[in-house]
Amino acid sequence: MIQEAKKLLWWQEGIIYQIYPRSFQDTNGDGIGDLKGVISRLNYLEWLGVKGIWLSPIYPSPNADFGYDVTDHKGIDPTFGTMEDFDLLVSELHKRKMKLVMDLMPNHTSVEHPWFKASSSSVEDPKHNWYMWKEAKQDGSEPNNWLSAFNGPMWEWNDTVKKYYCHSFKKEQPDLDWRNPEVHEATFDIMRFWFDRGVDGFRIDMLHHLVKDELYRDNPSNPEYDASSGTYNSHIPVYSSDQPYLHKVIAMFRKIADEYEDRVLIGECYVPMHKLIMYYGPNNDGVHLPFNFLLINNNWNPTKIAGNVARYDRMLPEFAWPTYVMGNHDQPRIAGRVGVEQTRAAAMMLLTLRGTPFMNCGDEIGVKGVPIPVDELLDPQGIELPHLNLGRDPMRTPMIWSSEQNAGFTKGKPWLRIDKCYKTHNVEIQKQDKYSLLTFYKRLIDFRKSEKSITEGHYYHIHSDSQIYVFVRKAEDSNAYMIILNLSHRPCYFKSEKIPYSGIIIISSDIELEGLRVKTPLELGGDEGIIVKLDNFI
Ligand code: GLC
Repeated sequence: MIQEAKKLLWWQEGIIYQIYPRSFQDTNGDGIGDLKGVISRLNYLEWLGVKGIWLSPIYPSPNADFGYDVTDHKGIDPTFGTMEDFDLLVSELHKRKMKLVMDLMPNHTSVEHPWFKASSSSVEDPKHNWYMWKEAKQDGSEPNNWLSAFNGPMWEWNDTVKKYYCHSFKKEQPDLDWRNPEVHEATFDIMRFWFDRGVDGFRIDMLHHLVKDELYRDNPSNPEYDASSGTYNSHIPVYSSDQPYLHKVIAMFRKIADEYEDRVLIGECYVPMHKLIMYYGPNNDGVHLPFNFLLINNNWNPTKIAGNVARYDRMLPEFAWPTYVMGNHDQPRIAGRVGVEQTRAAAMMLLTLRGTPFMNCGDEIGVKGVPIPVDELLDPQGIELPHLNLGRDPMRTPMIWSSEQNAGFTKGKPWLRIDKCYKTHNVEIQKQDKYSLLTFYKRLIDFRKSEKSITEGHYYHIHSDSQIYVFVRKAEDSNAYMIILNLSHRPCYFKSEKIPYSGIIIISSDIELEGLRVKTPLELGGDEGIIVKLDNFI
């Protein structure tokens, strides 16, 4: 009997596009994007071909960390609109067979959250133990040497309860105590609230940070510390993150998601790859997609990237589905990281590797990252250590829609500077240009959607050297595609020792090459990427 192939789930076959709502589209002229603005741009996203959007936080927040400090997990910040707007967004997405992933922030809340207000009001308060409180050392200093990701100790003194509280980020973002079952229940209740409203999944913020060492041991110092990366890296967070008990907590998250149909959990986990794999859970009971940041963390070096992709592919449990992230609101833009010339090869790699691609809004038009003067910094990470240039404002600037005033983003004063080249580089212009980066993205996305080999086929490493990275994707009974990426600016050739190949170029970063028949050896220009439909592949 022929067994029917297992159909891929939406979050396996589709592309997930991150929207930073403050910067996507403003409709009320306050200079800040809103939910109505997202709705107004859904036709664009549908045209582009993305399957799901991941919306950075829209909950009420005093914005100490731009929405990642929540005061009401079940509300909508009035800056972004109302619950009616939210419900409309869900139904408009679903009408288009698209999905919505929300941010969930279980590691910390805002200091202004009613939970923390209660917790810090008295040691007798029933919510006191919802947060991580700890007595001072005998000399009055912090309980241990843990460091906040933004700078300085992870501990802040509170004079009312005469204890320190833990904060992995700003002191305005106190950490919840995930060893307390009441915190579990409160969070699961939030998840159910949004799932019941039709949300298709959560991107769980700082998942690896939820559980800390029960004995509060000091972190060891980092012998490879590079001071330019910020003070946090002076120690290795072995006791302040990624603790074994966390995996029990993750399994509980998963159970909640499994109460519903077809929902996805995505984990933000900045951990080494051998640990990342554990976030899938031993029995497929972890998060569905622990973010894989290897394309962000690696130097743009073909051998390194190829080696790590192969290692990742080998390490994944059989049930696990891979992910690749090219950018997000915390990381420098891809066009800025590897250079504008490389953006097509980068897009081709992201959209042809095996696994769910995550792309950041604006990457499809090659937004480079906008310079923000030091006196206009808004991001706490940049403000804390202004001399290190670590601010994330440059990657969070408003989307560039058109040549109109303020790039079509707002009729008011934009909350953050807009790219000064918006008149020549924008969605409207690129959409009409068949040679633009946007058109190239769209063509790659369409190709990916239509080719089983790319959405679900095997990955075969073929070759890598100091300039090129080559792999083949092939599903059973489907065409084989060889992806050849020149990740350098210099010309090169590719002569496969493993397989002599011949075929036809289907997509090329240089459109004029498309349709050409090629065979080994093949020469490539600097920055070139091509997809060859192979005549044969054994
Ligand atoms: C995550 C978010 C980041 C935020 C941090 C603290 O890493 O992506 O933007 O600052 O969590 O919530």
